[in-house]
Amino acid sequence: MPTPNPQAMAFLLSRRSRPAKTLTGPAPDRDALLPLLTAAARTPDHGKLEPWRFIVLERGALDRLADAVTARAAALNIDDDQAAKARAAFADSPLCVAVIEVQKESPKIPALEQTYSAGAACLALLNAALASGWGANWLTGWASHDRTFVSETLGLAENERVAGFLHIGTETSAPPDRPRPDLKSITTWLDA
Ligand SMILES: Cc1cc2nc3c(=O)[nH]c(=O)nc-3n(C[C@H](O)[C@H](O)[C@H](O)COP(=O)(O)O)c2cc1C
Repeated sequence: MPTPNPQAMAFLLSRRSRPAKTLTGPAPDRDALLPLLTAAARTPDHGKLEPWRFIVLERGALDRLADAVTARAAALNIDDDQAAKARAAFADSPLCVAVIEVQKESPKIPALEQTYSAGAACLALLNAALASGWGANWLTGWASHDRTFVSETLGLAENERVAGFLHIGTETSAPPDRPRPDLKSITTWLDA
């Protein structure tokens, strides 16, 4: 018989992101963040390639990225609304962990599986933050896909991409749940 962990299951059945714009300080300090990163680093990873790494963006870095994203938005003629949104994501964030997908050369493990693992690392970090009582939100946005921005501000190499910006802080309000998928329409049971 399996040994259930009802608390863990109750968390998984009710987990809900907290929109980044509703987060405030305090954010986890380095000691509090370490177990969350440790949990994220337990993500399944075919071939033990470790196709991800973490960049912790503390206050000074977040302010630097806020200025950089404003400058990049101007260079790309991005409209004012989108530029302001991208700036606020960094300027208003209490703390952010950039989860970086690191594509490794492998004769066996397809690139796509490394991408899946990086996405799973984002969810693992998100869930670890939520389970620890923090508010957290997984965001990306145009800047995360802009090669110039990520190489100049985060130093990403050609084989690296931002899988997610994980914003973590103190929640000010819990949002109502959002509609969840109709399980019947996304699940097929095959018994033969
Ligand atoms: C890869 C990825 C990128 C996302 N980027 C954004 C984003 O830029 N802006 C946004 O409002 N939500 C974004 N989301 C959605 C939120 O993170 C989140 O999924 C949504 O608020 C519901 O989360 P929940 O199921 O934990 O409640 C993104 C989700 C994923 C998986």
